[in-house]
Amino acid sequence: MSPAAPTIRLLHGAEIPQLGVGTSPLDDAATERMVAEAIGAGYRLIDTAENYGNEAGVGRGAKASGVAREDLFITSKFNAKWHGRDLVPQALDASLERLGLDYLDLLLIHWPNPANNRFVDAWLGLADLLASGRLKSIGVSNFKPAHLDLIIAESGVVPDINQIQLNPGFTRDSTRAYNSARGIATESWSPLGGSGAKVLDDPIVIGIADAIGRTPAQTVLRWHTQLGLIAVPKSSNPERLRQNLAIFDFELTPDQIESISALDQGEAKAYDSDRFGH
Ligand code: A2P
Repeated sequence: MSPAAPTIRLLHGAEIPQLGVGTSPLDDAATERMVAEAIGAGYRLIDTAENYGNEAGVGRGAKASGVAREDLFITSKFNAKWHGRDLVPQALDASLERLGLDYLDLLLIHWPNPANNRFVDAWLGLADLLASGRLKSIGVSNFKPAHLDLIIAESGVVPDINQIQLNPGFTRDSTRAYNSARGIATESWSPLGGSGAKVLDDPIVIGIADAIGRTPAQTVLRWHTQLGLIAVPKSSNPERLRQNLAIFDFELTPDQIESISALDQGEAKAYDSDRFGH
């Protein structure tokens, strides 16, 4: 088993492992197998969402692992239909019901859906749950600085986390800078670039991986963690799950990090959260 991932302390005090496992687009049965396998391999952070339709699988896999609930960090996210101050507690209840758990470690607004103009209300609902102690950390996903400005101004509460599409092809510099200036941890979704990942076939990445005797995926995940990011790569392959966690016994040089960051193609090809969401 790989040594545990280091943790990051979030704004409201919780500690989150820097490397976890993503679950999209696996169904319940595949998720259950993968989550049990991942926890057995040493993962402690599991990332799911209402929209993935696999929260039940996460809950079953977590139980099957035999690891105590308090040693796991489980994140979920809710859809636009719950964007209302009084609806968010119901979103949390529904998520817990599907997971078969008593609590979540982190709940995120999945997408801002600005056309609906209700993400501030959703944020006020999460802030209530933080204040009442039902959640120890709260956050958002796919928020741009303009969306974050609004929720912070309206609530006075800063998110623990902003989870965004981030990999060497989309380094998201301005959103990362905004987050870190406010103490918001940045979490990378599709940190390897997703399925059919071109990032892992990039000659620069392969060159660095060969030079240090690691795989392209390990090289890219080390890039995320050395930038201070939290990453949740998905793999349903047990060997790759193990490989992806075994990244804390080497370091990239500043030049190697810079070469990987130079693969950025700008945000144009990333999902635009002013247009896309659910
Ligand atoms: P698989 O599940 O067959 O391992 P992301 O987390 O960025 O969305 O990327 C997930 C994709 O990357 C999946 O297609 C996954 O395939 C693949 N993947 C995950 N880990 C590795 C790895 N270590 N080497 C190669 N491909 C990987």
